[in-house]
Amino acid sequence: MFIVVKQRGLNMKILLLIFIILSFTISAYSDITDLTIECGYCHGYDNNAAPPLYGLEEDYLIEQLEAFRSGERIDPNEIMPMFVEELNDKEIKDIAEYFSTQ
Ligand code: HEC
Repeated sequence: MFIVVKQRGLNMKILLLIFIILSFTISAYSDITDLTIECGYCHGYDNNAAPPLYGLEEDYLIEQLEAFRSGERIDPNEIMPMFVEELNDKEIKDIAEYFSTQ
């Protein structure tokens, strides 16, 4: 009996693990603000060193984010590459759309 219970516990843990892995691979984020909240720490305040992003053209934003990711645009502070290197093309497009429509 003890062994059966123990095995069930293990199965549940494996199921849970599979569920967690799947939910990460299926959708990396559920809401666009999951991706953009950290941008606001630097870009959201007027008296910050980072330029404001709200209202910039979507195409311009996509170009800049891709350029930071590829290293074509050099951030003298070496900050921006850290925030875009992990983003895929769709995430960059979604972020650009978000800021251009705020
Ligand atoms: C730790 C601070 C910081 C964070 C967080 C940050 N940035 Fe930046 N960002 C900067 C700085 C500083 C610059 C100016 C770099 C330069 O002069 O090239 C910049 C520049 C940019 C530019 C170019 C703006 C222009 O007018 O050309 C874009 C676009 C941008 N960031 C988007 C983002 C997005 C999207 C995020 C979130 C995923 C983000 N940033 C997170 C500091 C930050």
